[in-house]
Amino acid sequence: MAIENFIAYNPTRLHFGKGVTETLGETVRQYGKRVLLVYGKGSVKKYGYYDKVLEQLVRAGLSVREYHDIKPNPVVDDVRKAAALGKVNNIDVIVALGGGSVIDSAKIIGISIANDIDPWRFMTWQEQPQKSVPVITVLTLAATGTEMNAAAVLQNPETDQKVGFVHPVMYPKDSFLDPSFTVTVPKDYTAYGIVDLIAHAFEAFFGGGEPSVVDKITLAIVKDAMEWGPQLLNDLQNVELRANIMLDATLALNGLTSYGKTGGDWGVHALGHELSLLYDMPHGATLSIVYPAWLRLQAERIPKRIQKLGEGLFGTPDIEKTIQLLEDFFAALGSPVHIGETEIDTSKKEEILNQMNKNQVSGMVHSLNNDDRKRLVESMM
Ligand code: NZQ
Ligand code: ZN
Repeated sequence: MAIENFIAYNPTRLHFGKGVTETLGETVRQYGKRVLLVYGKGSVKKYGYYDKVLEQLVRAGLSVREYHDIKPNPVVDDVRKAAALGKVNNIDVIVALGGGSVIDSAKIIGISIANDIDPWRFMTWQEQPQKSVPVITVLTLAATGTEMNAAAVLQNPETDQKVGFVHPVMYPKDSFLDPSFTVTVPKDYTAYGIVDLIAHAFEAFFGGGEPSVVDKITLAIVKDAMEWGPQLLNDLQNVELRANIMLDATLALNGLTSYGKTGGDWGVHALGHELSLLYDMPHGATLSIVYPAWLRLQAERIPKRIQKLGEGLFGTPDIEKTIQLLEDFFAALGSPVHIGETEIDTSKKEEILNQMNKNQVSGMVHSLNNDDRKRLVESMM
């Protein structure tokens, strides 16, 4: 019931809808002439989004340098190289064209250049940025919410970590969300995106505080995604369905679902990051495995909250039924709900547990100990 004290702040200007990138060039020009264009492994070239964006930048008279090949589950090394390139060329503004991996990398490139500090020092919270090179995003995959939040997640294979950093200077200045840029996202990543946005709503729901209206909004976002998501998977080119999921994903993690809360829990994400780190598993796929296990662990600890979730989503206060229905929903999307369904051999149980214990992964509100992590891994297999 309690509404926790909170500050609402979100400076990102969101441009949503078909054709919005037609004003990209003039928007970017407001921030300077020298652009660093960042993108991933090639999908944007293959499907023509790169051409559209480049045409905008060239027509606006901007000079463009590029850093590409950002990998899914992005690594700090790419961010270092891109920041070095940006510095040498004295860039004024970064344009990130892609999904969460590209946009997260761009955010950290922006603060690394502006503060002349190694990116990993931010990711490990040893430094706070004073400022950032402005970041403008063109989103091609609906999932993370990074287009309208101040967070970024990176991996460092050398230190064996996948971690997040959040700072208000990292909000994108402008984000362009044209749902037609997402019609080419393959079926599996479309499903992972739906899982991810639902998981963001859940992380907020299980955070501190119970603001009544925000609980209702949060569950409405999940219900909307549960309504349109399965239809979209049978009709991947449908721009209307893409638009619904795109807006759901932005709303799930742009701050709204944390109004009146102390913040989210994020324990499930932390556990999922260890699976991405070990096996390069796509982010959303880790979450459909971890969430049912986490809910089963929490069933006796926070029954009222899980009952509220069940009533809101499935019209039942029955906890086990709720978890089962959720698991069935993820499975029907084609996202794995057990590790055994992935390429990872179930004999890796010890390795997974050791990794999770090594990094002592836990939630911000619902803390986890070694015994909890053991139970979680058992139930994920
Ligand atoms: O590399 P390319 O060729 O671009 O291909 C990508 C990649 O293979 C492809 N793709 C993207 N848009 C496409 C497309 N393929 C066809 N058509 C398009 N329009 O999709 C693959 C996955 O891309 P990626 O950017 O990795 O996916 P996503 O957007 O799910 O981002 C995942 C990353 O975001 C982090 C995750 O941990 C993960 O590292 N997250 C960031 C958050 C944040 N900043 O707030 C919160 C999230 O919880 C999450 O942790
Ligand atoms: Zn996520």
